[in-house]
Formats: sequence, C-alpha cells, structure tokens
Amino acid sequence: MSFGPIRRTGWRGMRGLHRRCVRRPVFRTLAGSAVICDAALARRVLVDADGRLDHVPAFWRPGGVALPPDVCGALNRWAHRALAAEDPEQAAGTVVDAVAAAHGDLHRACLHAVVAAAGRALGLDREPVLRDTVAAFLDAVFHSMVTGDRRQADHGTFHRLCARAAPAVAAGAVPGFPDLDPAVGGEVYLRAVSAFTGASAAALSWLVCVLHPGDLVAARRAPDAVAAGGAEPEHVALETLRLWPPAWQHRRPVLRDHRIGPLAVLEGDDVVVPSYALQRHPRYWPDPDTFDPGRWAGWSGRPDAFLPFAVGPGACVAAVFEVRRLAAVARQLAARPPLSLSRRSGTPCVTAIFSAPRHTLA
Ligand code: HEM
Repeated sequence: MSFGPIRRTGWRGMRGLHRRCVRRPVFRTLAGSAVICDAALARRVLVDADGRLDHVPAFWRPGGVALPPDVCGALNRWAHRALAAEDPEQAAGTVVDAVAAAHGDLHRACLHAVVAAAGRALGLDREPVLRDTVAAFLDAVFHSMVTGDRRQADHGTFHRLCARAAPAVAAGAVPGFPDLDPAVGGEVYLRAVSAFTGASAAALSWLVCVLHPGDLVAARRAPDAVAAGGAEPEHVALETLRLWPPAWQHRRPVLRDHRIGPLAVLEGDDVVVPSYALQRHPRYWPDPDTFDPGRWAGWSGRPDAFLPFAVGPGACVAAVFEVRRLAAVARQLAARPPLSLSRRSGTPCVTAIFSAPRHTLA
C-alpha cells in the first residue's frame, strides 16, 4: 500500500475495468498497464517462473524504495511465524467482541478489532508506546487510506508516528521482529501493521454487511440459498472474498521485456491481475454476481479464478489463517444478536484496498 497520494480509481473506474475484462480478458489500458483477466494466464504471470516481474509489496517499500530481498524474506517469515502462533478461533473471538462493543464508523471499528487480535504479534500487549502509536496510526493515517477520505494521507503525522515507534522497535518490543536499520525500523513496523490489518479489516467490513439483513453491494442473495448466517461458515468466508476481494487488483512492475499471451510488455510497464473482475467473470462463475455460499460445497480445491491472496512470490503469507479466522468470525457473529448498522453511503470505498461503503455502528 502506498502512503503517498491515493490513486482514486474509484468505484466507477473499478466497474469500468470489470466490464472491459468481460469483453476482452487480456488487453492494454491507455495508461500502458497490461491487464490479465484470464485465470490460467493470470496464475502463470503471478508465479513468474522466469523472474521477470517485481513482487515486493508496497508495504515493504519504506520511502518508496524496496527493502533488500533478505530483509523482505525475514519480515515475511516473522509475519508467518507470528500468525502460526495464533489460534484463528480465539483471534476471531477477540475481533467479534471488539466489533460488537464498537460504536461509530464501521471501518474504524474493523481496523481496531483486527489490531486487537494481533496485539501479541505486534508487541502491543507489552509496550504502551507502541499501543498508543498504532492506535494513532490507525485513526490519523490508515483510516483515511482505507476509506479514501482524503486525497493524501498526512505524511507529517505518519513520519512523526514512525519516529515514535522506532525506539521501542529497536529495543526488541516486537517479538521476533527482524533487526533493521534504526532509520527505517519505525516505518517498516507501521507498514507491517498495515499488512496485518488493512485487508483483514476490509474483509471484516464486507462480512459484517453480508451477515446483516439488507441489500448487498453489486450482488444479490441467491433466492434459494440458506441465509448467510445459516450457511457453512467457510463457504460464507470464501464467497465474501470472491465477491469483495480487499486486494481488488494485483499489480506487478515489469523488470524485463517479454510477452504475456498476445501482449508484448516492456520494462517499466505494470502487469495487473484484476482479482475483482476475475472473481466475477461469467466464464468462470455461474451467476457471478450472486452471493451463494453453497457454490463452494461441490469443490474440493479452490478454482483457478479465485485469487484474493495472489499466488507465487509476493503472495499473502496469511492466506490459510485468514480463511479460517474469517470463517470463525462468520460463525461467531451469526450466533450473536445482529449488529445495529446503518449505511452512510451507497458506494464502496475503493483505494488500494476495496472495502464496504461507509456505515455507522450504533
Ligand atoms: C483477508 C485478509 C488478507 C488479504 C485479502 C490479503 C491479501 C494479500 C495480497 C493480495 C498480498 C500480495 C500483495 C501484492 O500483490 O503486492 C498479500 C501479501 C502479504 N500479506 Fe496479506 N492479506 C490478508 C491478510 C494478511 C494478514 C492478517 C497478514 C499478517 C501476517 C498478512 C501479511 C502479508 C504479508 C507479509 C504479505 C507480503 C508477502 C510477500 O511479500 O511475499 N496478510 N496479502
């Protein structure tokens, strides 16, 4: 995720891209990006066996510059180990309690709920400075990055928060966090917080909407489907990630000229795998815009056209954990009285992350 100006493609742009992908699965945009909305080709591109693409995610680019591969590897291993130590069921309990107790903005509630569940991994339970800094980061910087509230996140505040986090990070307050150059340690830590929380909170915002009676965004409920609360929780989680993938496109800069299917791509171009469009493409999904958790019942594996966590180098280290936790959240939320939720906007929030329209929890 970029902490620079938010590229405001917006909901209209995202749906326009979807319509183009349905007409033509592989094409070049006016801006020069190569869009790949063919499932087999998209997987091949992301796996990138010949190493022709750059897979460093935006959150491992402090100041816009990619960290060296060994540092990225150490950060990914730390994140992976931190999650492996968590129980998805228990983490879901923390998330559900926090959302149920929250009032006000849904996105803020989701961000704080997900962070509460990651408290041990992020060192928040033992270091009050980090706890305050992360809370301020979510409220003053990251919330606007997720909702698109402001064109530009507040850089000054972000860098002040990085500086505040740095000494605690350098002193080893975050269990297992790699030793980093102190000049970037605070920033990398807050970017790690964004990796832990951004997409998870967005998925949670969609799940809350799905479990709430009422209209869905850009989807309808299958008429004969069991209500979301009564369906198999893992299927609810997967169907939510299919229709509303928080990482709605996977973008990779091209390192070397080569061909992708019919397109020649050049160094400096971007390749884009539009997961939102792919996961609603009528070639791969019957009734693509219908929320039907039951469609997952017949499949043993995951369809090729399902890529919410990307695949290959750079893919999410939390894919397995997240599906388990989201499923547990779906089950635990459905077992509680419905949340009191009112919608404040008709359109979803589309920034680097795709999340539900603005809502208020009463
Ligand atoms: C529903 C929740 C989530 C979704 C949809 C998601 C999605 C993704 C995607 C699409 C990527 C690839 C980024 C890119 O293309 O540049 C990614 C990378 C990553 N994610 Fe997640 N993520 C989720 C939750 C999490 C959580 C909870 C963690 C905490 C450990 C996490 C840690 C990471 C890391 C460390 C990477 C970088 C992997 C690498 O560079 O090799 N993600 N995630």
